[in-house]
Amino acid sequence: MMKNIFLFLIAVLVSCNPQVEQNSVKQSENEYSNFEPTLFPDRIMLSIPGDPATSRAVSWRTLFTITESVAQITPVVASPGLEKDAITKKGTSTPWEEGSQVSMGHKVVFENLKPATKYAYRVGDGERWSEWLQFKTSSAEDGPFTFLYFGDVQNDIKSLGSRTVRQAYTHFPEADFMLFAGDLVSRSTEEYWREFFYAGGWIFGMMPSVVTPGNHEYDKPENQPRTFSKHWNQIYSAPANSPSEEYYNRNYYLDYQGVRFISFDSPALGENEEDSVLVITWLDKTLAENPNRWTVLFTHYPVYSCSQGRNNEKYRNTIKPLLEKYGVDLVLAGHDHTYCRGFNPEGIEVRGKNMPLYVVSVAGPKMYGLNTSFWSERMASLTQLYQYVSVSREKLEFKAFTVAGELYDHFVISKTDNGMNTFLESPEVAAIVQRTEIPESALENYSEDELEQYQKKFNK
Ligand SMILES: [Fe+2]
Repeated sequence: MMKNIFLFLIAVLVSCNPQVEQNSVKQSENEYSNFEPTLFPDRIMLSIPGDPATSRAVSWRTLFTITESVAQITPVVASPGLEKDAITKKGTSTPWEEGSQVSMGHKVVFENLKPATKYAYRVGDGERWSEWLQFKTSSAEDGPFTFLYFGDVQNDIKSLGSRTVRQAYTHFPEADFMLFAGDLVSRSTEEYWREFFYAGGWIFGMMPSVVTPGNHEYDKPENQPRTFSKHWNQIYSAPANSPSEEYYNRNYYLDYQGVRFISFDSPALGENEEDSVLVITWLDKTLAENPNRWTVLFTHYPVYSCSQGRNNEKYRNTIKPLLEKYGVDLVLAGHDHTYCRGFNPEGIEVRGKNMPLYVVSVAGPKMYGLNTSFWSERMASLTQLYQYVSVSREKLEFKAFTVAGELYDHFVISKTDNGMNTFLESPEVAAIVQRTEIPESALENYSEDELEQYQKKFNK
């Protein structure tokens, strides 16, 4: 009884205290008040810096004054005494944001890990630690695995982009990695990255990210040369097989259990002639020397545009001949804020080679209207999506889901022993109504004739 009276008096005092009330209003007006760096690690990101069977890299952030970077790692055991058998690994620290002294970025690379093994790790300065996080290395052999593919997350990441990343993870927590096809953030600023990390939270420390830059990872200040993201290389680590040091983390390949994943930095292409020759020569060599049965190229700009008013002929003419020459199986893109899937609309086949299949998708809430060239066999507008891809020696199975968790697209590419593909759209797709509503903000991109064609095509 006395206790209840005491609690009641405390509640009355708090509600009458203008200072308390003011603070709570102040807090609620600043949704980022708790996003400042501290002495403890946050923004933990796992990536693959080399052989996926034996290496992982982890990056994180603290207050700028913390310059020690340490990680501990051990094969997972069920008992809680993880530090007992953990190996300690020292890392490096560089400013979280180039040119700023607010936050320190840290990185540790784990090497010589055992293939197909579950590990637990934590990061810190040797005294102040993160929680223990877990991941599994890939197998050293070719064989079945899965990954999640996301188009642009880019805008309103905390409010609406977050649900796509979280829904995808909740749906497929066993996927081996997340692949992002560029424009992860609309601008590479602290404000956008805090939203991005808020969206992914601890998921980013458990499931590695495999990324390629989009045009929004670049900045073009007025009358100044274009600059690359001030955060990208601090956060992510890719295998060191780029055409030059400048393109580290931007153009690279990752061989994952029988698939060569190639990140091709499309926005960097065409900046100058010399660099274009360098990266195209590198791509040719990377495709020519691919020992894997499968090839997936992921690049921000679509080879065939998906959104109205876009048609990147220059990019297509540069890259498509190589994709066809080597029969790249799948090309994953973003940029167009719509969904499209199809082979080249000209129907051109290169004898003895597989036709590349092109997919464009979008994860975040920025929405465009569909292109009236209608080249693709499956499309969507005004829809946030995520994709789940399973690959084995014999087949690649691709499923696209809306952010509501509903299947939207589903196909299988089967590969024979001699490497030739057959494509099969799952019969269930025909029964799924295509989502083709034009976002209001995109209506101005259509002429009256185009709107008429659009209505005819989709009976809208
Ligand atoms: Fe873009």
